[in-house]
Amino acid sequence: MVAIHSSNETLTAGERTSGKTFYIETFGCQMNAHDSEKVAGTLLHSGYRQVDTPEAAGLVVYNTCSIRDKAEQKVFHRLDHFKRAAGKGKVFAVIGCVAQQEGERIFEKAPHVSLVAGSASYTRLPEMLAQLEAGARRVTGLDLDNGEAFDTPFTRRDNPHRAYITIIEGCDKSCAYCVVPFTRGPERSRTSESVLREAETLAGAGYTEIQLLGQNVNSYRDPSPAGWDFATLLDRVGRIPGIRRVRFTTSHPRDFVKGIVEAIDANPALCNHVHLPVQSGSSRVLARMQRLYTRDEYMRRIDWMKSARRNISITTDIIVGFPGETEQDFQATLDLLGEVEYDSLFAFKYSPRPNTSALTMEDKVPEEEKTRRIMILLEKQRAIQIRRNSELIGTIEETMVESRNEALNQWIGRTSQNRTLNFTHSGSAEALIGKYLPVMVTRAGPNSLVGESTMSVV
Ligand code: 5AD
Ligand code: SF4
Repeated sequence: MVAIHSSNETLTAGERTSGKTFYIETFGCQMNAHDSEKVAGTLLHSGYRQVDTPEAAGLVVYNTCSIRDKAEQKVFHRLDHFKRAAGKGKVFAVIGCVAQQEGERIFEKAPHVSLVAGSASYTRLPEMLAQLEAGARRVTGLDLDNGEAFDTPFTRRDNPHRAYITIIEGCDKSCAYCVVPFTRGPERSRTSESVLREAETLAGAGYTEIQLLGQNVNSYRDPSPAGWDFATLLDRVGRIPGIRRVRFTTSHPRDFVKGIVEAIDANPALCNHVHLPVQSGSSRVLARMQRLYTRDEYMRRIDWMKSARRNISITTDIIVGFPGETEQDFQATLDLLGEVEYDSLFAFKYSPRPNTSALTMEDKVPEEEKTRRIMILLEKQRAIQIRRNSELIGTIEETMVESRNEALNQWIGRTSQNRTLNFTHSGSAEALIGKYLPVMVTRAGPNSLVGESTMSVV
C-alpha cells in the first residue's frame, strides 16, 4: 500500500531522510573542520549524497562552535532562518560544541531539530542515523566521556594535499574562561600505531602535508605500551616517506617541552612554526585565568624557540578584557608583544561562557573598553608584522602551492612558517597546485608576502 500525504508536514523524520542527501556547515576551529570531514565520510558511507546548499538537502547538519557567544549565536540564526523550511521535508541535526553544551534545550529553542550530538558521541553516528531513518523524531548523543577517540576509515577530506589527523581529543585543563572541557570532555589520546597507520595511508594516497590536531597536542600520551610522548610522535610522523611537512595545533605552554623544539631542529619535515597561545602578558591575569604558567615561564619557552637552529615562526592567541584586567595588566600584554615579536596572532574580547569559573568573577571590563584594548593591540601587532615580514625580502622560501588568483595572475602558496606567499610563475595549474617551489620574496605586507619563482617544481 502506498501512503499518500496531503502535505510534507506529515512526513516522519525517517521518511524525510529517504532522499538521502545532506548538507553540512561547519563553525569554529580546525578540530571541528576535521570532525566534519569524518561526519561527511560517515554519511557518504551510510548512503547519503552530499549537496552544496541546505535548500537541496534532506538532512541539514550544523557542526557548531561555542567558544564565544557570537559563534554560538550563528547556529541559532541559521535554524531560525530555516524554521519554515523544516516543514518542507528537511531533517536538522545540530552537532559539535553547542550541541554538547545546550543538549536537549536545543529542541526547545528550535523544535524542528531532530538530532543533537556532541563530538564524543560521533562513534554512535551510524546508529543515530539509523534511528532517524526508522522514524525517530528526536535522537541525542550527549555522553561526554566515552573513553575513546572518533576514528573512522571513511573520512572525506576537503584538501587533496594537506590532511588533518586528530591525535588527542578533549581537554583536561580548566582555564577559567574556556568552555572546551565541557563541550569536548576529558582527554583521550589515540594509539601511536593508529596515528602512524593513518599518516602512512595518507602518504600513500599522495598527501604531502600532515597537520596533527588536538585541543592540547602537547599532552598527547600514547595509550599503548610504547607510551610515546608528543615530541616522539611528531618526529615519527615527520619520518614517513612522502611526508614533506608536518604541522600541529594547538599547544598549551604548560605542556610545551623543550623536546618539541629539539625535534623541529633535528627533522626538516617538521614545519618551523609553533602556535603557542599566551592569552595575557600579565602573570596576575594568567593566575586568575588558571593558565598554570607565569609570564617568565612562558618566556622560557619562547627563548627555547628563539635559540633554535631553525628560524621558528611563533604565533599566539590573546584575550583582552578578562575580568579584573587592569590598564597595567593590558600594558604588560602589549609589552609582551614587543618582546616576543609574534609573526601573527588572534586576538579576542573576553566572552562569558556557561559553566566556566570566570562567569562569576567580579570586575567585569566594559565592552567599549575591550574594544579600545583590542584595537590598540592589533595596531601594535600590525606594525610588528610589517617589520618581521619585510625582513624576509630577498630570501628564498620553499612554498607549497595551494591555489591560483587568476585576476592578479598570481599563485597562492604557503611557506613552512605558515606565511602566505603570493607569487608569479609561468606554470600551468595541473603542474603547480600541490607542488613545492623555491620562491624569492620581493615584497612584504602585514599579512602576506609577494614573490617570484622562475625555478621548476621540486
Ligand atoms: N572569550 C574570548 N576568547 C576565548 N578563547 C577561548 N575562550 C574564550 C572566551 N571565553 C580564545 C582563546 C583560545 C582561542 C581558541 O579562543 O584565546 O586560545
Ligand atoms: Fe569552538 Fe572550541 Fe568547540 Fe573548537 S573546541 S568548535 S573552538 S568551542
